[in-house]
Amino acid sequence: MSSPQPDRPSRRALHRRLRRPIRGWVPVVATLGLTAALLPAAGPAAATLGDTLFPGQGNAGYEVRHYDVDLTYAPDTNHLDAVTHLRARAFTELASFHLDLEGLTVEAVTVDGTDATWTRQGHELVVTPATAVARGRFDVTVTYSGTPLEHTDPDGSTEGWVRSDTGDGATALGEPVGTMTWVPSDNTPGDKATWTFDITVPDGTEAAANGDLVSHDSDGASTTWTWVQDVPMATYLATVAIGQFDMAETTMTSIRGGEIPIWSFVDPTVGSTADAQALLPKVIRFEERRFGPYPGTSAGMIVDDVDVGYALETQDRPFYPYGLGTGALVHETAHQWYGDSVTLTDWHDIWLAEGFATYAQWLWDSAHGGASPAARFRALYAKPASSSLWHPAPVKFTDPADLFGAPSYQRGAMTLQALRARVGGEDFSRILRRWATEHRDGNVRTHQFEALAEQVSGRRHLDGLFDDWLRLDGKPRGY
Ligand code: TRP
Ligand code: ZN
Repeated sequence: MSSPQPDRPSRRALHRRLRRPIRGWVPVVATLGLTAALLPAAGPAAATLGDTLFPGQGNAGYEVRHYDVDLTYAPDTNHLDAVTHLRARAFTELASFHLDLEGLTVEAVTVDGTDATWTRQGHELVVTPATAVARGRFDVTVTYSGTPLEHTDPDGSTEGWVRSDTGDGATALGEPVGTMTWVPSDNTPGDKATWTFDITVPDGTEAAANGDLVSHDSDGASTTWTWVQDVPMATYLATVAIGQFDMAETTMTSIRGGEIPIWSFVDPTVGSTADAQALLPKVIRFEERRFGPYPGTSAGMIVDDVDVGYALETQDRPFYPYGLGTGALVHETAHQWYGDSVTLTDWHDIWLAEGFATYAQWLWDSAHGGASPAARFRALYAKPASSSLWHPAPVKFTDPADLFGAPSYQRGAMTLQALRARVGGEDFSRILRRWATEHRDGNVRTHQFEALAEQVSGRRHLDGLFDDWLRLDGKPRGY
């Protein structure tokens, strides 16, 4: 099903232009010994990485470096034919290994070009290569098809492959686990990779994804949309949106002077988004001034008639259901720094994404005639001890249904305001910027943020503050 690629030379040229040396193979090989030493020895068929909230997601023994996702989709029947090619690196010899894949029918798996056998165990695709994979690089190709699933989360919300209300297509939403409904993957935020997407759809249908649009070529019946994501991206931030979209291609100038291409895809049945599209460059520049240079190679938005009730910070091109307000635009754009570029490693650290994106809204509102962050803090702090804001504590929750609750968003933002009140505005700004620049394209945990805050502010005793705001079950006292 792989479609012809008349654009190969220009695509390679684009790869060269965008490639970041830090993710190349050479430094990876050079640090192999160190990285492997830090990881638990993974026996064959290690099934999980042990995320505290989603213990079944992610797989030990290897990491993925690149996903090449080749999809052919029929909107009228909701049928997908797919080939995903993974370039991976084994930390140890692997007699077998797992991928996360929910639903769909697997037709073939090859490892380094040789047929492999596989079994399905729940959402685990267990692959046994003809001969064990040696430590180091290996390639996997999975051919699969069927009607992709929607996935219902512990909090009752819908993600995965979500068909649009008008049936003109679908949008793939992956937070926290839904990407396994369309990509066999190491489905954990701690394993970022680069990506390419080739999405073949009937002529007249558009297909958006993450990264840069390289080409959209028709063979007279169908069109293949090729997208390249050369910035490391977690699986939960991957998206494909297929439908009858109005595509807008523009560029903006970053505060550093560089041009950022913008590709936006708006389903016209949801109404006009002209205001939001005009606002996007202003929001990006506002956030660049506070957080540092925009971390992606392109920007945009996807607005679809998909009734999930939440927006999502899909990398470069956030998704919005049925139109969008300024708050959502500011929030999802801030995630491009906090969440997408600087990415949590374990889901219980979700405040590192949601608290920061909420704080960005406070900064925007305050700069545009609204309440100051200090006033927002005071208003929230006035809530009674019985409020859901205070329970459970942000990094202490154990129920995945609490992922998107007030403790992650509002109490997370309050944590930042409490820090600002303690260290002062200047150091606080430095902390925000250094967090984004020092961990750009990386994975983080809460203790690293605490260490940075103490380092920048020169205060060695912020642990009480972080314990009160992030770990204490109940309302922190004395603020
Ligand atoms: N991360 C999204 C945001 O804040 C929100 C989100 C994703 C969400 N999935 C959800 C909210 C499920 C509620 C339910 O932009
Ligand atoms: Zn968010």
